[in-house]
Amino acid sequence: MRTVLIRPATHEDLAHIRALEQQTDTAAHWAEREYDALFAAEAPARVALVAVEEKAEGGIEGFVIARCALDEWEIENLVVAGSKRRRGVGGELVRELLLLARQRSATSVLLEVRESNLAARRLYEKLGFSETGRRRNYYLDPLEDALLLRSSLRIL
Ligand SMILES: CC(C)(COP(=O)(O)OP(=O)(O)OC[C@H]1O[C@@H](n2cnc3c(N)ncnc32)[C@H](O)[C@@H]1OP(=O)(O)O)[C@@H](O)C(=O)NCCC(=O)NCCS
Repeated sequence: MRTVLIRPATHEDLAHIRALEQQTDTAAHWAEREYDALFAAEAPARVALVAVEEKAEGGIEGFVIARCALDEWEIENLVVAGSKRRRGVGGELVRELLLLARQRSATSVLLEVRESNLAARRLYEKLGFSETGRRRNYYLDPLEDALLLRSSLRIL
């Protein structure tokens, strides 16, 4: 049986994270220095998680990165490798992030998503996110609205 583990990203994962991001049109694209800054002491607080298959060496199946601003966290990027999609990996990454956010007393997790990105919208809906607004013409290439989604975290 395939076992996928979700764990905090390390410096060694950065090249894999970057490669996966670059292969993915709908991902948010960051410069190399922005990834390097993830682990810098003075960097804004972020959480980066990776999904790895237990027996695989080196590579990752997906990742999620969120900015943690006290009680409000924001998902900045979420990507699952094309060949590993629809196996629950994206859902596991976001569930783990929501769990961490609750544990660290956040009250909500937010994100922006392209209106046409139905895969991501369905995933977030399934995990309890709801639409709270829209940013007109927010994305370029192609020009498109962003939908704002939010998950309000219950106190456990
Ligand atoms: C969005 C993404 C992360 C989903 O990852 P995933 O591992 O395939 O998602 P899961 O297998 O956990 O799917 C969970 C649910 O999301 C929905 N979903 C996922 N992919 C879908 C698709 N292509 N079409 C419709 N619904 C989809 C389904 O409800 C699915 O549950 P189901 O398989 O039981 O029907 C992945 O498609 C991806 O990396 N896309 C490119 C990057 C991107 O757009 N990121 C989002 C930026 S906001």
